[in-house]
Amino acid sequence: MKTVSRRKFLSHTGMLAGGIYPAMLAMGMLRKAPASPFQLDGDAKGKHVIILGAGLAGMASAYELMKKGYQCTILEARERAGGRCWSVRKGSVNQEMGRPLQTAGLDDGLYFNAGPSRIPHHHQLTLHYCKELNVPVEIYNNVNEAAYYFSEGKGSLSNKKIRAREIHNDRRGYMSELLVKAIDQKQLDAAMTKEDAQKVIEYLRAEGGLDIDKLYKASARRGYMEEPGAGEKVGRIADPYKLHDIIASGLMDPDFYNVAEYTYELQMTMFQARGGMDMIAKAFEKQVGQFIKYHAEVSSIKNTDAGVSISYKDSTGEHKIDGDLCICTIPLPVLSNIDHNFSSDVSRAIDYVSYIQTGKIGLQFKRRFWEEDEQVYGGITHTNNELTQIFYPSYDYLGKKGILIGYYNFNDKAKRTGELSFKEREQLAMEKGALIHGQYPKEFENSFSISWHKTKYSLGGWALYSAEERQTVYKALLEPDKQVYFAGEHLTYLNAWMAGAFESARSVVEAVHKRVQAA
Ligand code: ALA
Repeated sequence: MKTVSRRKFLSHTGMLAGGIYPAMLAMGMLRKAPASPFQLDGDAKGKHVIILGAGLAGMASAYELMKKGYQCTILEARERAGGRCWSVRKGSVNQEMGRPLQTAGLDDGLYFNAGPSRIPHHHQLTLHYCKELNVPVEIYNNVNEAAYYFSEGKGSLSNKKIRAREIHNDRRGYMSELLVKAIDQKQLDAAMTKEDAQKVIEYLRAEGGLDIDKLYKASARRGYMEEPGAGEKVGRIADPYKLHDIIASGLMDPDFYNVAEYTYELQMTMFQARGGMDMIAKAFEKQVGQFIKYHAEVSSIKNTDAGVSISYKDSTGEHKIDGDLCICTIPLPVLSNIDHNFSSDVSRAIDYVSYIQTGKIGLQFKRRFWEEDEQVYGGITHTNNELTQIFYPSYDYLGKKGILIGYYNFNDKAKRTGELSFKEREQLAMEKGALIHGQYPKEFENSFSISWHKTKYSLGGWALYSAEERQTVYKALLEPDKQVYFAGEHLTYLNAWMAGAFESARSVVEAVHKRVQAA
């Protein structure tokens, strides 16, 4: 039998020019991407779709429409694409309302993710696009038992940094001990057979690290006062904190629940795009950049009899473009200030939906003291003060300099922080951060902060819905208003995630294409 090399087979069948990906997949030459390329039948029939916003939802929509041959125009108010998918580097600028333009003075090669910074392993579509567009990903270390809990307050464990593993294991230990006691005292007799109770006790002993008497007395899980080593160095384990002290110090409060491990989206494995999360945005921009008009601020969106008419301003003045259909990805608080002729239900929904207040600060340090002095490699320190959390970078481990996210806060804390001047935000991050890391003042170089609810063209972190709003305003925006479709994380149950932008883009592109086929 004549054998044909795989390359020859592919070129013979003309597949090296186009459609090669599915063919190679079929032959087992490529590992399958986590989700599938988007397959739509039928053609674009010469239709022109105007897309408002060159964020991930807008660019992913254009990318998929372009593959089908649609004519696309993307209007983007900013000087850059990506929207909230943005990494701050040397020279990056941000405009907050009523504030001077902020320019980042970070060193070359350093960055921090002002928006999305982590990708859950089950966000298949995000990972799919990384693969399809050749964006390398690396592990994002979201869970680090060596990071800290820091509780400001009056308890004996307050105002000290405490390794997460100490609190986690002490809490687990005491909770297990309490449960074992309850079971031993036969208080749960009604709920369990004797054999089941015995199994549960065995499990709790293991879970809590209880001793032979079923009592919690610390263990190596919570770390050492003196590490084990060569020869006679057996290692020394400290006594556990007292349960009462943990409670009185606020370390059983919601700020310190085990958020990372218990939240579906925050469970390891998590990923980040190598070199900055905006590498994803840049990869889309490479595909659809030719359709983007930058600095184009939309001033009016009008459904006409047969299409849409969009007005926008740029440095040369007012312009108007007409199209057959429109995909509007503008965040709702921004859209709310734009002239339109939508139905009253849609208009009400746009005005009604609230977005989270949230902010971050990047702090550049000349030395990675969190790694060198404290063995903290990635992960998050949690606090109950204005900082809420400190993120340690998951790139350039053992490098020279690094950027910490000095705070990442939400709601009232973010609102108060957002009111501060850039200098005051830096002072807050430095003062509160120095309580945890005394090295801050000596090693600090510069900062860049962002308050998303104050940032022009975003005006919020992500959409928030109550259960009732999901049944009313949310539904109003899921349907097109005549020729205008709405897309973005705000039209999904994946709020605050890039996957939301992608899932929504695909869903709207599918609806647009179906309509064009039916016409
Ligand atoms: N997706 C947002 C985050 O990772 C909420 O913090």
